[in-house]
Amino acid sequence: MSLPPPLKLGFVGYGTIAHSIAAGLLSQPAFEVKSVHVSRRSAAKSAAIKAQHPGKVTVCDDNQAVVDAADLVFLCVLPALYEEVLAGLEFGERHTLVSLVSTSTLARLRECSRLPAERAFKMICLPSVATRDGTCLLVPPSPPLKAVLDTLGGCVCCATEKIMTTMMIPACLMGPYYRVLQQNRDWMVANGVPEEDASYFVGRTYLGIAKDAEASCADPKHFDALIAEQTPGGINEQSIQNLERLGAFKGYGEACDGILERLEGRGDGNRG
Ligand SMILES: NC(=O)c1ccc[n+]([C@@H]2O[C@H](COP(=O)([O-])OP(=O)(O)OC[C@H]3O[C@@H](n4cnc5c(N)ncnc54)[C@H](OP(=O)(O)O)[C@@H]3O)[C@@H](O)[C@H]2O)c1
Repeated sequence: MSLPPPLKLGFVGYGTIAHSIAAGLLSQPAFEVKSVHVSRRSAAKSAAIKAQHPGKVTVCDDNQAVVDAADLVFLCVLPALYEEVLAGLEFGERHTLVSLVSTSTLARLRECSRLPAERAFKMICLPSVATRDGTCLLVPPSPPLKAVLDTLGGCVCCATEKIMTTMMIPACLMGPYYRVLQQNRDWMVANGVPEEDASYFVGRTYLGIAKDAEASCADPKHFDALIAEQTPGGINEQSIQNLERLGAFKGYGEACDGILERLEGRGDGNRG
């Protein structure tokens, strides 16, 4: 597969995630984007992107018109619709399909689109790709497609769908992360800190911590190094040991098992 610039992008289904991807790819492209073709559905969003990029965006009346005008097509409809929508579309030799539909498997994508394996992909990302702050997951691996998706903030190619599912776990721990911030705030307030100061300080402190964590995260030993650099005998080292003894990290591991179990449809994911 080759995806030479300038790209002709198509979006079948133009809701939240499609609008985010289009905005990200158009905002500061590493590749030249020649044109973007979107379906008229979700008229407010399609009209908005057309208004922002009138020279590049075309709003199409039907899905086949989107496909006909594009080389790289993002499928962004709801899970219940994707098989029916794909079955009604004709793809040609030049097309590459990327499905954002969470429940679509590669096997069903190939069957329904009648595209070969090297031109049918599955991708996962969050709406933060709109500001190029997202990190996409892509299966199967494709260097040319990764180069395009890196424009959205970053892209990790997954060797298998199982690996892609496993890599969804950190995003499913966003809630517990906020719960830790809430606990910190409440504990400080219970110990006399004014509520607004506690909330502001917790948010800002964890931002600084997260920036250090992200700085060299491509190095697989980076988190170990951050832990090792905690002062020997200091309070942070002691906090790690206390939480280890209290079972906090074992609990995280079991919660991860529960998430994967639920994502793979093997159970309800409940633990404890
Ligand atoms: N939102 C996210 O953060 C996110 C992240 C990753 C993946 N996803 C996946 O992306 C897909 C879309 O999610 P979303 O959140 O973007 O949903 P959404 O905002 O509801 O967008 C779905 C879009 O599909 C359109 N549509 C409905 N029937 C259609 C048809 N027959 N042909 C073409 N378009 C049609 C809808 O138009 P109308 O509004 O006019 O009905 C709407 O524009 C889902 O499969 C979801 O699992 C979403």
